[in-house]
Amino acid sequence: MNRRAFLRLLGITTAGAALTTVAGCRGPARSGALLTSQVPLPERFTVPLPRPAVAQPGPDGVYDLVQRAAMVEILPATRTEVWGYGGTFPGPTFDVRRGAAIRVRVTNELPVPTSTHLHGGVTPAEFDGYPTHLIVPAGLTGPDLRSTVHSGHGGHAVGWRLVDRTFTYEYPLDQPAATLWYHDHRMDFTGPQVYRGLAGLFLIRDDIEDALPLPRGDRELPLVICDRAFAADGSFRYPSVDPTLLHERGVAGAYHQGVLGDVILVNGAPWPTAEVAGARYRLRILNASNARRYDLRLDPPPPTGPAFTQIGSDVGLLAAPQPLDRVLLASGERADVIVDFSTYPAGTPVVLRNALGQWSTVDVMRFVVGRATVDDSVIPPALAPVETLAPAAAVTRRRFDFRLSGPGEHGRQWTINGTPFDPATAVASPVLGTTELWTITSDFHHPVHVHLGHFQVLSRNGRAPGPADAGWKDTVDIRPYEVVQLLVRFTGYRGRYVLHCHNLEHEDMAMMANIDVV
Ligand code: C2O
Ligand code: CU
Repeated sequence: MNRRAFLRLLGITTAGAALTTVAGCRGPARSGALLTSQVPLPERFTVPLPRPAVAQPGPDGVYDLVQRAAMVEILPATRTEVWGYGGTFPGPTFDVRRGAAIRVRVTNELPVPTSTHLHGGVTPAEFDGYPTHLIVPAGLTGPDLRSTVHSGHGGHAVGWRLVDRTFTYEYPLDQPAATLWYHDHRMDFTGPQVYRGLAGLFLIRDDIEDALPLPRGDRELPLVICDRAFAADGSFRYPSVDPTLLHERGVAGAYHQGVLGDVILVNGAPWPTAEVAGARYRLRILNASNARRYDLRLDPPPPTGPAFTQIGSDVGLLAAPQPLDRVLLASGERADVIVDFSTYPAGTPVVLRNALGQWSTVDVMRFVVGRATVDDSVIPPALAPVETLAPAAAVTRRRFDFRLSGPGEHGRQWTINGTPFDPATAVASPVLGTTELWTITSDFHHPVHVHLGHFQVLSRNGRAPGPADAGWKDTVDIRPYEVVQLLVRFTGYRGRYVLHCHNLEHEDMAMMANIDVV
């Protein structure tokens, strides 16, 4: 029986909405609305996988990051304007040590204000990239600047901190080795500004990780995965209500669900290809997409052993390696995994696919396996000491409901506990150093991200958490109508931080709340 006949038997027409549901997942499979490119899509697996440059400090020990526009070739023979850190997309990779206490001087040469957030960082509030702590570019003055500041959610002028042209962020980095990332976090405009290129990886290393015989050097590959659509002129296509990104926030029509592109980029290249040796590789995978979710598989799967062995989650190494045949990543999540290419015969093309993709978005990239070579790496049975948080340790319980609300007082908006983001109030005041038990509910795909606080997933729909929930995390994939319990601990600093949905279109449409750590 073919697929069509099978679906007919179930009473489903091939044009029906039921095609967008996936077994094992209640509700829509899609986490946004698809925007298609207006240029012909390039052939897959023709562009080599780029490796982002590594950020270097200047003579004064400070890392300089200039945010600027640049014309780059993403699709072959097509010019695309990116807004990048250093004019590159993704931005340079930070590769720094635990406790390095680095300073990053961000200079804004873009036409819009920016705020830079170190995602997963344990950072003092003043340097955390709060949405209304903005670097205002030199050219933005007068009515444009006023309207930028006052058009914010409901016109509140509370909590704005405007600095002229440049700001130096201080990152103490007193936290375990992990795969973090940094990206723009401007109030109401994070989605379009990240989409234009303001994102990069930020790796923290420590002595515990150094002592492990993991693949390193050339055999450690960062993979920043995101989707984009391209307009006829080669520019990134994004459905902003106000393409200047200065006045009115928001996206057109169905894109309030989230923007999905039809081109998959890895490290800024469309469906790239990487030659790998027949050896173990460490892949640092980041889902930097605005709204797209990934269920990554290797095709073909390896002849022996698991496709992936996960060694780290969002904010640190796991206690022990976890064999996986798939890596599930919602927006903002990371997975640190080992793939053993030595199990494939030399010459095998191995495609990294997204089982949640459709048409052009099924393929992500391709590896081509070379000859087996000397490989002294080992995946040790124990990785790092990881404290397991116990529910009994929770001093406070809270509920956060992520939902499209309205019509009503706030109209149709993405809300947390029925309320759109109000910069003037806080929904919770956790005490520094304590653990809380949070219950999250949702009506759609909402990857929930907490600033400062790291957490462990306690349960998912009343059952044990899934493999994708393992370890210390800062972002959790919440699917439609799920109930997920988290044990959250706030350490490091007191002050005002945010909790929000990491579907960036939801975030920009007010699915955010203040958390005051006291
Ligand atoms: Cu990755 Cu508040 O964001
Ligand atoms: Cu959401």
